Amino acid sequence: MDTLIPFLLPLLLLPLSVYLIFSIRKRDKNPPPGSMGWPVLGENMELARIGSQKLVKERMQKYSRDAFKTSLFGEKIAVLCGAQGNKFIFNNHCELFAPWSPPSMVKAMFPDLERTRHLEPKATFYNFHYDILKPDSLKKYVPMMDLLSYEHFETKWRGASVVEALPLAKKYALSLACRIFMNMEGWDHTGDFLKSFSLLTKGILSLPINLPGTALNRAVKGGRVVRNELMRITEERRREMREAESKGEDLLSKMVVETNEDGEYMSDSAIANVFIGLLVGAEYEISSLITIVIYYLAELPHIYNQVLEEQMEIAKSKGPNEHLTMKDLEKMKYTWDVVRECLRLTPPSLGAFKESTAEFTFAGFTIPKGWKVMWTSHSSHMNPDYFQEPEKFDPLRFEGSGPEPYTYVPFGGGARMCPGRSYTKLVTLVFTHNLVTRFRLEKVIPNEKMLFSVSPTPAHGLPLRLHPHKK
Ligand code: HEM
Repeated sequence: MDTLIPFLLPLLLLPLSVYLIFSIRKRDKNPPPGSMGWPVLGENMELARIGSQKLVKERMQKYSRDAFKTSLFGEKIAVLCGAQGNKFIFNNHCELFAPWSPPSMVKAMFPDLERTRHLEPKATFYNFHYDILKPDSLKKYVPMMDLLSYEHFETKWRGASVVEALPLAKKYALSLACRIFMNMEGWDHTGDFLKSFSLLTKGILSLPINLPGTALNRAVKGGRVVRNELMRITEERRREMREAESKGEDLLSKMVVETNEDGEYMSDSAIANVFIGLLVGAEYEISSLITIVIYYLAELPHIYNQVLEEQMEIAKSKGPNEHLTMKDLEKMKYTWDVVRECLRLTPPSLGAFKESTAEFTFAGFTIPKGWKVMWTSHSSHMNPDYFQEPEKFDPLRFEGSGPEPYTYVPFGGGARMCPGRSYTKLVTLVFTHNLVTRFRLEKVIPNEKMLFSVSPTPAHGLPLRLHPHKK
């Protein structure tokens, strides 16, 4: 036996040392601090209870100002915080991260993406639809936005003593997007589509549990109706465009006739995916922003008065039936600063998710490959190091050179920055012009609570008493 010991010892020690090396390396790997919450549920209940703004603030105070871990939508997530976190993610989009969306979003919005991706034409059309969202392409739509806004206020607001702002903003944002991107009028107002669209947007960020009665289940059903309708419209438009042999000006008409280098058309399903993405961005985010702008204008009369003054100047410079143009919007400097302050204090988007494609280190913490990574606007927008008295509504903070880089990020940054930001600016300015030049606003519920579950929403839809200006 004694003679075997020199041979057995290394055999016994080898696994032990491998185990020790791995466990020491594992300990060295220092993941960000935080809690994964409940099994399966993670911290989703907490997110629903206290909202994203508070969740981020509390975790940063409790664990680290640089990064914390959590579990949301069924995934392990590292949240990188502050301007440094934003900078790290925005500058490493291509090297370290792949785009990632919560499973609930993919299931409800793009259910056949994985199954049909390989059937799509080889050359990608990825950026094709982003051209229409550039300021140069959008400026011709400003008079139309003004006309539709005029019609919206004259039919839905004028004459009513009390209105509920949020549902009206949703209707407005959706019908405007349908008109601009698809040249469609009226059909989006019909009950079924609007109801299905609302079910879809309510459940896109939910737990990935698709059982009867869950938010995801309702979103999947709503998404199916929206998708079928978009596919039907695409098919019809394709036929019309071929028969007419003409080139339409709107995005849908262009997409159905567009071919790649190999002469292949985009499928109806791929086009429906593009439009679901655009319409959700346009309805969900813009209606949230418009409602927040109304909320602050009704809350802060001194801000309202200055916006009114700027907008009345512009209104007086126009002829009786003359619509707003891009030149007019360029003059709305104070109003835009007010909108920007709304986006800082109450950003419609809580941030964005990515998937790490390689292990990396940030602020001394190691984040493994495959984890989901998130940046959030709250972590820099509400930081007194970047914004003095961050709770205070102060549009003047955007004057001069404005906030430091990577601190003000309502639309993200870097390669994946929101392509809808110019569209958002134009739509919101036109809407605000038409609103304040018609009415003074009074909240029916003076201290109506804002709920911050996914995007911020007033608890009761923001009912308003309208006081039309005297002519
Ligand atoms: C208040 C308005 C809006 C806000 C606050 C907002 C915010 C954002 C944010 C934070 C992102 C993620 C950036 C990232 O992944 O790091 C994003 C992406 C995106 N947004 Fe918006 N958005 C708004 C309006 C819109 C509109 C109106 C559209 C379309 C008409 C739109 C289309 C998109 C698209 C297609 C992406 C994905 C970009 C990509 O992955 O490359 N958004 N948006």
